[in-house]
Amino acid sequence: MFSFSCSRAISVAPALLLSLLLPVAAVADDAERALKVGESIYSQTCIACHGANGKGALPGVSDFKAADGPLAKTDDELATSIRDGVVTPGAALSMPAKGGNPALSEEEIQAVLAYLRKAFGR
Ligand code: HEC
Repeated sequence: MFSFSCSRAISVAPALLLSLLLPVAAVADDAERALKVGESIYSQTCIACHGANGKGALPGVSDFKAADGPLAKTDDELATSIRDGVVTPGAALSMPAKGGNPALSEEEIQAVLAYLRKAFGR
């Protein structure tokens, strides 16, 4: 009887520990994956105008690195800008909806936004 309850306690403890740790690992994995997806979207769709350093490769493109630049805005505002595009009257260039790639999903918009914050610092 004693040995039964003792071995049960030993087998339950690691299982309990695992169940506490696994969700954290899964969330970290998801975030890592989203950043990879975001990076690949950026390098295919956004980099031509925004540049590898995020400072803008063409006249009229926002500088992501500037302290008062677009990354000071909220995630919701930026996701809307990426989804719908931004047209500033008189500006040299406009931000096309989804960076000109209509196939971009909502999840990919969030992924590229996460990448912007990670890569360009805000
Ligand atoms: C054809 C060039 C071009 C491409 C491609 C492009 N952008 Fe832009 N983007 C711009 C320009 C120009 C602006 C500045 C718009 C303004 O403020 O008038 C801008 C602004 C932004 C902003 C700031 C929006 C705001 O609310 O101030 C974000 C965020 C952004 N782009 C993200 C992206 C992402 C992500 C991609 C790729 C999926 C992308 N852009 C592709 C030209 C481009």
